Amino acid sequence: MNAKEIVKEYGQEQLLRFEDRLSAEEKAKLYAQIESLDFSVLDELKKKAGDLHKGEITPLKAMELSEIKARHDELEKAGLDAIKAGKVGAVLLAGGMGTRLGSDNPKGMYNIGITRELYIFECLINNLMDVVKKSGTYIHLFVMTSDLNYESTTNFFKEKKNFGYPDEYITFFKQEMAPACDHDGKVFLEEPGKVAVSPNGNGGWFLSMMKTGVLKKVKDAGIEWLNLFAVDNVCQRICDPVFIGATLLEGRTIGAKVVRKNDPDERVGVMCLEDGRPSIVEYYEQTEQLRNTLDERGERVYNFGVILNYLFNVAEQEEIANTSLPYHVVEKKIPYIDEKGNTVKPEAPNGFKFEQLVLDMIHLGKSCLPFEVVREYEFAPVKNKEGVDSVESARELLKKNGVVL
Ligand code: UTP
Repeated sequence: MNAKEIVKEYGQEQLLRFEDRLSAEEKAKLYAQIESLDFSVLDELKKKAGDLHKGEITPLKAMELSEIKARHDELEKAGLDAIKAGKVGAVLLAGGMGTRLGSDNPKGMYNIGITRELYIFECLINNLMDVVKKSGTYIHLFVMTSDLNYESTTNFFKEKKNFGYPDEYITFFKQEMAPACDHDGKVFLEEPGKVAVSPNGNGGWFLSMMKTGVLKKVKDAGIEWLNLFAVDNVCQRICDPVFIGATLLEGRTIGAKVVRKNDPDERVGVMCLEDGRPSIVEYYEQTEQLRNTLDERGERVYNFGVILNYLFNVAEQEEIANTSLPYHVVEKKIPYIDEKGNTVKPEAPNGFKFEQLVLDMIHLGKSCLPFEVVREYEFAPVKNKEGVDSVESARELLKKNGVVL
């Protein structure tokens, strides 16, 4: 379908409202953008909360700290062997907008240091370097950005000389964008000749690697496993040999780092089986009964929360790459231009964005090993300016881990 047919089909004629004012070049650009976007995400608005069907939830046993400690050397060796053989790569998810932190720059450019400069990207590279040193092997790092922060991210890495990481081991790629709409499902214009779009969530990372040709590089390098991790957890171990070894030796296709919940009400998705396949129950889906189910030791069964640090098997991801993930509708503040062409920067959420999430990929996998890590060592996400999961709380943890700020 061409742009005119698309807007008609989806009832989005307002996108061509300023068509007459545009130059031929601007018009062509707008048409091309409309033709490149997936407007079917708007169908999500028609679904009701009750339509989200969950299957039968049963427990999925985690590998707990005691077992990890007892088997440490065996697990670590298996992981290091895989790294040394070049079978492991890392994927940094850095395409998010970081709206809660409120900085205009990409989140990774945030300086978390106090007496010296220490950027979030730098913390992550330092963490990866620990494994490079231990294994004597450089690990390929793939960095996902969006259209909006590609330039600033790549320029920053260039300016900082990748914090010492060799150029040939870092590859940047862009994720897809999705249209953003008002509460009635009408897609906004950001400029007279530009549809308002936002990154389509972190769940599309593998497909974006495929579409941008980066997957070919992964395969040519002989990489069989990808450790996916979020930009904002400054303490996490990346390509942790013990975690990799555990996933491999247990014969699973996915590994998921998890932390024991602080308390049953903590707002974190927990690992489980759903109709016999690995899955995650989001905090808002956790019933009282689920929260209080105990195992034979009297401990809570659904007690391990995910921290967005996963190991994925490349071959399996390729097999399932065309299975579509659901889109989640997220209410956000979306700047737009009104019918008169005036720019509006809303103070309160004024519409919806559409995001696919990594957590939905877990259910597509054959098997998953939840692997327990110590919260105080490995979970310091920077989401907010203050309070819970903030710059302050991450700084505390970094200090505890001996990082000089
Ligand atoms: P969050 O869910 O915390 O989203 O992302 P965010 O956009 O960074 O922050 P807020 O909600 O606007 O404050 C978790 C991880 O997924 C990445 C983020 O960069 C972060 O590493 N992400 C998120 C993407 O790579 N692409 C996206 O479209 C969304």
